[in-house]
Amino acid sequence: MAEIGVIGGSGFYSFLSGAETIEIDTPYGAPSEPPLVGDLDGREVAFIPRHGADHRFPPHRVNYRANLWALRELGVRQVLGPCAVGSLKPELTPGTFVVPDQYVDRTWGRPHTVYDEAPVVHTSAADPYCPTGRATVIAAGNVVPDGTMVVINGPRFSTRAESQWHAAQGWSVVGMTGAPEAALARELALCYTSIAVVTDHDAGVQTGTGVTQAEVFEAFKLSIERLRELLRTVIAQLPKPDTDCTCRQS
Ligand code: ADE
Repeated sequence: MAEIGVIGGSGFYSFLSGAETIEIDTPYGAPSEPPLVGDLDGREVAFIPRHGADHRFPPHRVNYRANLWALRELGVRQVLGPCAVGSLKPELTPGTFVVPDQYVDRTWGRPHTVYDEAPVVHTSAADPYCPTGRATVIAAGNVVPDGTMVVINGPRFSTRAESQWHAAQGWSVVGMTGAPEAALARELALCYTSIAVVTDHDAGVQTGTGVTQAEVFEAFKLSIERLRELLRTVIAQLPKPDTDCTCRQS
């Protein structure tokens, strides 16, 4: 069993001591990889690499439902979701960590709900992230404490016009995986906290050719050690969420 879940890059595989891989099936099929469950400084943590261990799932093919369902089956109640993002503001430079308080979902065609059949259930999404998780991350590290993350479908990056439009809305960062992950966590009554790692300036705030995949991967690698340290601190300090946490109320 585990209490805290991390859905992130494969750089976290070496994170957990005495870790065990748990084969688990879900009503939605297999998760991106069997979760790795182990101890991190006295907390039981389950880890799933979002894109698979070999990065074989593009953002629109990640089985978000299976990943979250599998974590919940293992007893997880709080999920940390680090992800790479582009910046929509000049001052949010590569290497910056943003703790979004809002997202805008511009994805399409992804299975995005566990409530596909009767009974009809409409969950609240006004404040889509866990207040306890966000406060813990904000207290733990050198992070930008709020911002809106717009989530595009990918796998292509935004056109310059799309990016300029996103920036003009006042949104802070752009990624490809934050939705429907956060919404599904809420449907499953899981506390969910996003940690957005800026890897580049998106096309609308950058002169030149725009972002490339190589640039994103390279920049993420440069941040991975700091991200691991932040997650280590956050996991150690994460309190058990209140029973009346907004995340628990659908
Ligand atoms: N992930 C990292 N950088 C990104 C960008 N510029 N747009 C969308 N997703 C990203």
